[in-house]
Amino acid sequence: MQTFDLFAPTTEAERHALYARMRAESGLCRIAPFGAYAAARYEDVRTLQKDAQRFSSEALAMTAEPAWLGPNPVAQSLVTRDPPRHTQLRAMVNRAFGPTGMARLEAQVRHEALTLAEAAVSQREVDLVDAFSFVLPRNIIGRMLGLEPSTFTEFKRWSVNMGLITSAVPAQHAGIRDTVKEMEDYLGGVITARRRQPGEDMVSDLLRAEVDGQRLTDAEVLAFLFLLLPAGMETTAQLIGNAAILLARHPEQLEQARADRAHIPRFIEEVLRCEPPAQFAFRVATSDVELSGTPIPAGSLVMGLVASANRDERVFEQPDAFLPGREKASQHLSFGHGIHFCLGAQLARMEARLALEALVPRIRALRLASPTVEWLPGLTIHGPRTLPVELLPA
Ligand code: HEM
Repeated sequence: MQTFDLFAPTTEAERHALYARMRAESGLCRIAPFGAYAAARYEDVRTLQKDAQRFSSEALAMTAEPAWLGPNPVAQSLVTRDPPRHTQLRAMVNRAFGPTGMARLEAQVRHEALTLAEAAVSQREVDLVDAFSFVLPRNIIGRMLGLEPSTFTEFKRWSVNMGLITSAVPAQHAGIRDTVKEMEDYLGGVITARRRQPGEDMVSDLLRAEVDGQRLTDAEVLAFLFLLLPAGMETTAQLIGNAAILLARHPEQLEQARADRAHIPRFIEEVLRCEPPAQFAFRVATSDVELSGTPIPAGSLVMGLVASANRDERVFEQPDAFLPGREKASQHLSFGHGIHFCLGAQLARMEARLALEALVPRIRALRLASPTVEWLPGLTIHGPRTLPVELLPA
């Protein structure tokens, strides 16, 4: 089996060329420098995401809690649990994220998106991350959880630091430990306050939720909030940021979306396929298993390269071409698959659609200040770190 260095590529084109080689040469590879296994082909990545019996999500707990960090509530959250506990926890939180909950939120998201889009277009030259793509999901998740708006400005620093955990260098360790402590104090305080005085917010709903006569403990609610806050902001922000980059690079798509709003959801699905905000899934093999005919010993860490699976030529024709409305468009694996399928997928799709419905009719062109995008560091989350653009009003 071959070994590949996932950190070697310096550009997006190089990264996709590496994935294409991995898919072609051996579906399953060893990854330098951690020595984990990596699956690059669609079928294998889907199996990893779907087969919770052979591939445990406790791998995420291992990567979220390295020795230098100490306890990290995320390691005990929904996304790191296997059945049967995962099934119970998921049942408790599903309702808030279902169609009824989303329909209730739609007017609020539309209003927030319109306000931000109008302000951004009136400035004409803006950093779209600061002015729009990050602020929208941040404000929405903050309001859903009933958090104090004056604290929203802290969330970015928190989610950036939490996102660094898997690839942190020693100089970053103390800052990340401080962030975990700060989040524990803040979110723990919110839980205590809502226990005393429940309201009409998601934290209160979580504290009230009951399945089979059981309720969530404070530690479980804290773990869920640790997961939800970055999950609700960071990935959706990257989806909207990546969508803006693709609108700038494909002006005909902007034209089409301006002419027909119904094009926007098709456009968003293709952004999700080509530029998935969450680049891989981590699992640990529960027994000796095989992927693409290659044996993997029990206990091995296996990484499913979603960004590669979404461009697998075995599934998608012309996989590197950006073709909204293509066949099998929604078969991408960007929201996962099976029992861990993204809880916030409907919310993320709605936020991205309403963001573009607010922005697109207000502009006749979106120009990137530089043809080279400054991407976020690290391999976990994929999207622009900053996005200076010129918005030409319609
Ligand atoms: C799970 C991606 C937005 C909350 C996942 C998973 C992926 C994903 C790939 C599965 C992880 C795995 O299999 O190990 C995304 C992307 C988003 C997005 C690409 C935006 C474009 C959101 C939002 C929320 C959210 C807005 C909540 C407000 C969650 C939660 C889970 C999850 C709680 C864990 C589900 C479980 O383990 O049962 N997400 N997500 N996500 N996502 Fe998202």
